[in-house]
Amino acid sequence: MVWKFALAATTAFIGVQAAVKTNYASTVDPLNVVLPDIPQTTSLDEAVQCTYYSSPNAIVPAEWPTVWGSATSNGMNTSAEFTALYNSIDWTKVPNFPVRKLTAAGGLDMAGYDNVNDPACWWSSTTCKIPKTQGINGDLYACPEPEVWGITFDDGPNCSHNAFYDFLEKEKQKATMFYIGSNVVNWPYGALRGVKDGHHIAGHTWSHKMMTTLTNQEVLAELYYTQKAIKHVTGVTPKHWRPALGDLDDRVRWIATQLDLTAILWNLDTFDWAANVQAGVTEQTVDDHYQEYIKMGTNGTFANSGNIVLSHEINAMTMNFFMKHYPAIKKAYTHVMDVATCMNITQPYAENAVVFPTFDQAVGTTSNNSSASGSGTTPGAAKASTTGANAASGSVTFNGPLFIAALFGLLALV
Ligand SMILES: *[C@@H]1O[C@H](CO)[C@@H](O)[C@H](O)[C@H]1NC(C)=O
Ligand SMILES: *[C@@H]1O[C@H](CO)[C@@H](O)[C@H](O)[C@H]1NC(C)=O
Ligand SMILES: *[C@@H]1O[C@H](CO)[C@@H](O)[C@H](O)[C@H]1NC(C)=O
Ligand SMILES: *[C@@H]1O[C@H](CO)[C@@H](O)[C@H](O)[C@H]1NC(C)=O
Ligand SMILES: *[C@@H]1O[C@H](CO)[C@@H](O)[C@H](O)[C@H]1NC(C)=O
Ligand SMILES: *[C@@H]1O[C@H](CO)[C@@H](O)[C@H](O)[C@H]1NC(C)=O
Ligand SMILES: [Zn+2]
Repeated sequence: MVWKFALAATTAFIGVQAAVKTNYASTVDPLNVVLPDIPQTTSLDEAVQCTYYSSPNAIVPAEWPTVWGSATSNGMNTSAEFTALYNSIDWTKVPNFPVRKLTAAGGLDMAGYDNVNDPACWWSSTTCKIPKTQGINGDLYACPEPEVWGITFDDGPNCSHNAFYDFLEKEKQKATMFYIGSNVVNWPYGALRGVKDGHHIAGHTWSHKMMTTLTNQEVLAELYYTQKAIKHVTGVTPKHWRPALGDLDDRVRWIATQLDLTAILWNLDTFDWAANVQAGVTEQTVDDHYQEYIKMGTNGTFANSGNIVLSHEINAMTMNFFMKHYPAIKKAYTHVMDVATCMNITQPYAENAVVFPTFDQAVGTTSNNSSASGSGTTPGAAKASTTGANAASGSVTFNGPLFIAALFGLLALV
């Protein structure tokens, strides 16, 4: 059974208000990105790539939160800019769920939380993805078309990733990249490469904290300064983001919605970062995960819908896992693509001139010509869109049983 769902329409019905006004500035034209030809952007030697460089879009530290510190640090929560933003939001409407606590061991303290009814749609509790409060953008978590592997990489950019981006470029493979704000200001050319190559860029917060443990002000700052950093450095303002460890609830979603942000989660997790880090997880464990997910591409698991796979560009090990298994992934799945494309999100940034192909265009069943149904141009070969009307995502096909399982948090895959 396959159900047709109009995601964008659903959101419209429940009346998401217009996003608040922000004032992100950039001198970078995302349709015409020029990466400087310096050893840091071309070398495959890690030490060379990681040699400090100063970019023309250098960050003035006084204007930003402390890198890897809280997004409210360095006086950012009292700046005129942030205060104006904060005050433009009607906080009387924010869902009244408490700021969560961490346990002594650093995990989320769920003591006393109603995990059965999960009133806050707290992903960390039940993997809830469909908000229980009205007027909030729901999470995306699976590519809707059958046999599609949705590629996502978290925790970039960094120095030392040239070989990985070269690999994707050579394979003509686009992915969704979730960039950490602090990494973007540390390694701007890493972020610029992502936009230049036409990857789908999304935010991954300023300092990678568990979002439900932060105050409203801190959540807003984590999101806002990441948006600002990505815009400043690359010229695009993402419409998507991913919380660290998937930790979000309806309070956090509501704040993200004010900034016109929709969360992208996943339904398969490689646990690539955990190899040799978390007790009991070895490189073999991660290889086994990849092989299992690859098998799912041929044994009918994804006959009616696709996946979104969580992987990381955090270090050489995690990038190597992907590159090693990529040929088998390509073989097992009909299509391997970024999330914007698999979801028909043709304008994934506030800058509508950057246009991604629709799913049909990307798989070659519809013309890419602008005269047809809007241009299918990615930044790599950029061209302005002629219509602004196709910004909303179209209808999304869900596998009925899978969808119901997900609703009740029963999806064993998550
Ligand atoms: C700003 O954030 C800092 C923490 O970074 C906090 O100590 C301070 O109370 C906040 N100021 C206001 C006005 O909210
Ligand atoms: C960035 O890459 C360098 C070199 O590979 C590594 O030492 C560092 O831990 C990375 N930083 C982050 C935040 O991922
Ligand atoms: C497909 O393979 C996966 C991974 O081995 C397994 O979990 C799943 O049950 C299989 N599904 C079917 C329909 O055989
Ligand atoms: C449209 O462009 C994509 C690359 O963005 C390409 O893979 C696809 O084959 C093209 N479709 C057609 C019909 O030319
Ligand atoms: C549009 O399609 C036609 C053929 O259908 C082709 O000749 C032309 O080059 C295409 N234009 C672009 C901009 O892709
Ligand atoms: C993408 O849009 C086309 C045309 O509107 C539609 O036929 C298709 O089902 C959509 N696919 C997805 C994945 O939303
Ligand atoms: Zn992360």
